[in-house]
Amino acid sequence: MSDRKDLVLDGVREFHREASPAQEFIPGTTEIWPSGAVLDENDRVALVEAALEMRIAAGTSSRKFESAFARRLKRRKAHLTNSGSSANLLAVSALTSHTLEDRRLKPGDEVITVAAGFPTTVNPILQNGLVPVFVDVDLTTCNATADRVAAAIGPKTRAIIIAHALGNPFPVTEIAQLAEQHDLFLIEDNCDAVGSLYDGKLTGTFGDLTTVSFYPAHHLTMGEGGCVLTGNLALARIVESLRDWGRDCWCEPGENDRCLKRFKYQMGTLPAGYDHKYIFSHVGYNLKATDIQAALGLTQLAKLDSFIEARRRNWQRLREGLDGVPGLLLPEPTPRSEPSWFGFVITVDPEAPFRRAELVDFLEERKIGTRRLFAGNLTRHPAYTHQPHRIVGELTNSDLITEHTFWIGVYPALTDEMLDYVTASIKEFVATHG
Ligand SMILES: Cc1ncc(COP(=O)(O)O)c(C=O)c1O
Repeated sequence: MSDRKDLVLDGVREFHREASPAQEFIPGTTEIWPSGAVLDENDRVALVEAALEMRIAAGTSSRKFESAFARRLKRRKAHLTNSGSSANLLAVSALTSHTLEDRRLKPGDEVITVAAGFPTTVNPILQNGLVPVFVDVDLTTCNATADRVAAAIGPKTRAIIIAHALGNPFPVTEIAQLAEQHDLFLIEDNCDAVGSLYDGKLTGTFGDLTTVSFYPAHHLTMGEGGCVLTGNLALARIVESLRDWGRDCWCEPGENDRCLKRFKYQMGTLPAGYDHKYIFSHVGYNLKATDIQAALGLTQLAKLDSFIEARRRNWQRLREGLDGVPGLLLPEPTPRSEPSWFGFVITVDPEAPFRRAELVDFLEERKIGTRRLFAGNLTRHPAYTHQPHRIVGELTNSDLITEHTFWIGVYPALTDEMLDYVTASIKEFVATHG
């Protein structure tokens, strides 16, 4: 049986080599994607192996991934989810758990976040009946600043959820200090910043909870997938319950009596001894991922360090190549940080003799992919205009980002040749649009 499996997997490796020949880069013809999955033969083998073993639900690979990822990101617990958005939903929802007693967030409580970003950093606030409080960002780092967050803290503020923008850390030491001083929960949306450092410490290790996405654009991929990590075992237990239908029991699938008291509980008004497997202590979801996803996560995780290194190298090459180009505001790492970059963000100076749309069109015509800084100013989208929210200060930079900012890729599959073509194209555009 296992000989037959080895034979199949050897065939998969051969197939991979045939299906993925080295591609010649043809400037203007070859697509230069802003992001994408970087998959090798080990990834393909892992996927097929999980399928061969028909591990179709969450199982051994999921648990293995969770403990390896928690170790790598220096958190005690990791819970795999079906997306980064689900991870954010679980992280915010966890703060509303009745088991937190007086510290639980209640409808109408406020959560500070930034206006310029990704919608599902903010949506769980509204989905839990809480009120987002939007602050502006700094233009060169695209991040929240501690003074803006401090100015937004009011009597109803109970938590902060902010993403490390495009891999660039927000000043998380300072914001974690504010959270501690004001007894606020802090969630770091680390979906775009796995491996980033601030004050020499990994992002995601400062807050109460942190989230990661494994969609193909991100540092690691499972196709779809995400993760909630925490150092707090009580919060981890709540996250697990909410992820797994709201159940109180923490047995793995297929396990029956981990707590050795399966028929000895009495909870709610249930009869004594009601099966703990079917006692529900939260109004939960099912946001689990599968072993097929986790199997891919494990082979991806083995490459994380090289992925981070390549992203840093590519960002640096673009930064040096574009330095001094007139009309462009270029990104800077947040002081005291070492970002694990997601993308290379460019803002067209509003005073420049050309517009973002012209530059983006020029690049796209040359097959150089561009993306917006996600939603730009979220408060301007139809989804949010009628939702309860508070805005603190002017959202000047969020508006500038909406109108003048875009980003290009730094992901590991981009070669020096491609990056140099990107730089040369931008320089050529600027030189001919003076
Ligand atoms: C900052 C941020 N948070 C959350 C998400 C959501 O992740 P997912 O697409 O896995 O739901 C993304 C997605 O790109 C993101 O960039």
